[in-house]
Amino acid sequence: MSHSETGNRPAGLFISLEGGEGAGKSTQLAAVREWYEQRGREVLVTRQPGGTALSEKIRGLLLDREHDGMSPLAELLLLFADRAQFLDEVVRPALREGRVVICDRFTDSTRAYQGGGRDLDRDTIEAVARVVHGDLEPHLTLLLDLPVSTGLARASNRGEADRMEVAGQPFHERVRRAYLALAEEFPDRIHVIDASLPPAQVSDAIRNTLEHFHEQH
Ligand SMILES: Nc1ncnc2c1ncn2[C@@H]1O[C@H](COP(=O)(O)OP(=O)(O)OP(=O)(O)O)[C@@H](O)[C@H]1O
Ligand SMILES: [Mg+2]
Repeated sequence: MSHSETGNRPAGLFISLEGGEGAGKSTQLAAVREWYEQRGREVLVTRQPGGTALSEKIRGLLLDREHDGMSPLAELLLLFADRAQFLDEVVRPALREGRVVICDRFTDSTRAYQGGGRDLDRDTIEAVARVVHGDLEPHLTLLLDLPVSTGLARASNRGEADRMEVAGQPFHERVRRAYLALAEEFPDRIHVIDASLPPAQVSDAIRNTLEHFHEQH
């Protein structure tokens, strides 16, 4: 791994997993973690929204189906309030310590769900994103892509649907299209993985992508 070194400490690395409902993000975190641990890296696995005590409460507000009247802008600002705390408390310290931070969802989720899904203006999202994280973006994003119906069917096996899962098929189709458009916009950062394959094959594709990424960086 050719990241610049400070003393004996490797440079921190920030990796996000993205994709629609049931794509397998939470499942595949383990494969990413294992790949880095086998190479001697210290890993922190975390999730957005969530990952801090405050964030888990905000996550509860966001996903609670009682809040079905939440305005798209309120939703956006709650997400970024959560992210501000998360960056200060979790991501920046871990990156300073040279860890690999592996995050289940980050701002691409906001771009896809609130931008594509809820139809919020992209400029508004980017304006808030700039305030909250400046140019701190993941070094690498693994976008797990699969047909919406497949993902929703997988997610529905998991118990009661949350506020995002009940948003309807057209919403989730917009989310998927927005994700794929982001992958075209940021081809160096976002790598699309075929998530419709069985879990072991998805893990293989992820490991290949990690190998490629580190050959080039
Ligand atoms: N490649 C796969 N093939 C079939 N089933 C899978 C695959 N990957 C994960 N699953 C199953 O699908 C369900 C959803 O997977 P998982 O929770 O990892 O998705 P997710 O992307 O984290 O979803 P969410 O966005 O809702 O958190 C789980 O029950 C999981 O066991
Ligand atoms: Mg998940």
